[in-house]
Amino acid sequence: MHVLIINGSPRVKAYSNTDKILEKFTAGMSENGVTFEQYEVADAKQWEKMREAYYNNSRIIIALPLYVECIPGRLMEFLETLEPKNDGTGMAFILQSGFAEGIQLRCGEAYLEILARKLGCEYLGTLVKGDNFSIRFFEGEQRERVTGPYTEMGREYAKNGDFKSEACKRFTGPEVFPAHIRFLVGLLQKTFAKKMFKKIARNFGCTKALDYRPYS
Ligand SMILES: Cc1cc2nc3c(=O)[nH]c(=O)nc-3n(C[C@H](O)[C@H](O)[C@H](O)COP(=O)(O)O)c2cc1C
Repeated sequence: MHVLIINGSPRVKAYSNTDKILEKFTAGMSENGVTFEQYEVADAKQWEKMREAYYNNSRIIIALPLYVECIPGRLMEFLETLEPKNDGTGMAFILQSGFAEGIQLRCGEAYLEILARKLGCEYLGTLVKGDNFSIRFFEGEQRERVTGPYTEMGREYAKNGDFKSEACKRFTGPEVFPAHIRFLVGLLQKTFAKKMFKKIARNFGCTKALDYRPYS
């Protein structure tokens, strides 16, 4: 099996968490003889080749970060240049995000299923996973702890050709944090995080309160 992989992040490769995730994912996938070619939406010079690859490949994975609860505008811009295939191509997605609860990615996941159909492809599932904020700030073992598990998902994709297995569903982790964790996170937001955001705003020269609503 040969797979076209598109990194849908608008961030350049060196700073993209999606890229670090794909590094591990493709390592697992390649172990089982699957070959791949990868392109970056962030690099407009690759768009022509990427379009060609979209039409020439029957297995496609689009890996993307959740940006403001939705898919990045840059990726959307590229996808709008494509014609529907209607030739039995299988399309799967890796949807990853900063916040950890699975529930906040479900709306994006539902959209991706529609997107695959609109592109005339068979929907082969979405690997859904949050808690990836820290990847680009971490190195070595700390980064490995976050990205390493994607290697197993690469093996899983190589085995099944999709993201529909129970192992892929379990990979998301908790749909919603337990009540005591939500309470602690809320407390942290109202105290430490609020103070930190105020400081950042002050450094940007902001003189108004963070909840200032001049137009309301
Ligand atoms: C503009 C912007 C919007 C984001 N919106 C969300 C969001 O709605 N939910 C979330 O969990 N993470 C959000 N994130 C975090 C990214 O999904 C996360 O850091 C991801 O790993 C970035 O991948 P990338 O570096 O490949 O772009 C956002 C990040 C940015 C820069």
